[in-house]
Order: sequence, then C-alpha cells, then structure tokens
Amino acid sequence: MEKKLFNDLPLEKKIEFTKKNYNSVSFFQNQISKGKSNIEIDISSYSDVFRKEINRLLNKKKILAKNIELEKIHKFLKKSMKNYNLKHGVNGISQMFYETDEKFRSSYFSFVKFLSKNVFKFPFYIQEVPTIRIQCPGGKNRHFYPRYHNDISLGHPFGEINLWIPLTKKSKKEKHGFRLMSLSNTKKSLIKYGYNLDYLLSECINKRNINFKFNPISNKVNTQYGKMLAFDARCLHSSEIMISQTRASIDVRIIPVKEFSKMKYKHQGLGKRKILFEPGGCYFKNSFR
Ligand SMILES: [Fe+2]
Repeated sequence: MEKKLFNDLPLEKKIEFTKKNYNSVSFFQNQISKGKSNIEIDISSYSDVFRKEINRLLNKKKILAKNIELEKIHKFLKKSMKNYNLKHGVNGISQMFYETDEKFRSSYFSFVKFLSKNVFKFPFYIQEVPTIRIQCPGGKNRHFYPRYHNDISLGHPFGEINLWIPLTKKSKKEKHGFRLMSLSNTKKSLIKYGYNLDYLLSECINKRNINFKFNPISNKVNTQYGKMLAFDARCLHSSEIMISQTRASIDVRIIPVKEFSKMKYKHQGLGKRKILFEPGGCYFKNSFR
C-alpha cells in the first residue's frame, strides 16, 4: 500500500506521531552518539578540500577575481550579494552556490565515500546536493535571524542525521554564527507547544522575541575547523547574524537505510520544489555501503 504523506495527516495525528518520536531513542543516539544530542567528527582533510572548492567557485562564477581568505570576503562583495530574501533567509551569495559543477560534485562524492568507509559504518542514504551557506556581516533583512526550526518542521523525516561542516575558522565573538539546542531543551520547548511543530515554526516566524528566548537555552556551535558536527534531526537550531567575519559552511543530511525502511509516512519538503525525501529524490538513488 502506498504510504501517506506526513504533511497531509490531520493535525492530531501529526502531534501524536511527533510526541511518540520525541519520547523514543533515535538511531543517532543509539548507534552513534551514546545518547548525546550531537557529536563532533574529524573529517580529515575534507574541510580544506571544500574550502578550496568554494574559493575556486567564487573565481569561476566571477564573484571574486582573486583568492581571498573566506573569513574576509564580505569586504570585497557587492552589496546586493549580502542581502537576504525574507522568505527563506538566503542571501545573494548563497544563492549563487545553488549550482556548482562537475569538479565540486566529484569532491563531494569522494567525501561521501570517506564517510561511508570511515565514519558511518552502516548503510545510509545521503542528500545528493549539499547546501552551501555563506553568511556575511551586514546585508538587508539580516534581522531574519535568529530563526529557530528543525528540518523536520520543514518536511524532513524524523530519522535523519544533520551534518554541519564549517569551512571557516570560528571568530571569538559569534563563533560560527550557528546555535544548536540540546535534545532535552528542544523537548522541553516543544512540550510548551503541545508537540505541534507547525505551531512552533509559525510562532518563530511571526513572533521574533521567541527566537531570542531560545538563544540562552541553545549553545553557540564551537566546532573546530577540520571537524564536522553531527546532530539529531530533532534538535532546534538557528543561524545568527555574523558581526566580525564571514562564515562559510556546508550542511547535508543522511538517513540510515534501516530508519528509512521503517518510515511510516512519506516526507516532502515544504519549499517550491516539493522534493521527496527518498532515494532518487533528495537523496542519491543508491545507498552507501
Ligand atoms: Fe536547518
């Protein structure tokens, strides 16, 4: 029988499913993090590979004429590149990276194989196109941030694991401009919203002060350049505006095949593309391992 779309369920069913999920132990906690909300993983030289790739693409796309340290590129960018759109909080420069090229894709593919061989030693599906984000100081509409969410509230499945890779060194002040709430604080927050993730998301969109209330109960991500942060998809998180430097990062999601096969519903993104979170949709057609 064809699985139903999670998004199409009546609200009470969604709440019931969400509650059950938050009160169980995830694959990530069980098999990877020993119960923690997040862990840091050494990714060998891949931070350097991706950092160089971003610089190469900045030149190839004629955004910058020469190689400039990524932390300082905001000083050389056109103003319009720094402005955020109000719908998704994406600035001009990040939009320029929606498309990459064959060379970038091949570096990413070799990274995925590295993960499969050395880090996640179980079959998994992984996002085919990673998201590249470049947050600069300044820019119109930067008050969009902080904006708390988890990717589940944007349509992703509960069983995913978020991978977040900094490609810049952290600053003293704002570190990477990225905050992550622990699973226990996320759960406490969600209880206040009756396990209604849609409601929590709409409140974060419509009532700015809620995001500032979430800041003190969320940690500034402190991951060293050269490492990758992996976190339970259920955790709330938000970007923050950058003040002293630019941050470049890559985010990508994986889901263990075992978790995917157990999924009761189909999951679909809320964006324009209505992408399905399944092999051949958001993920590579084939699993790894
Ligand atoms: Fe997210």
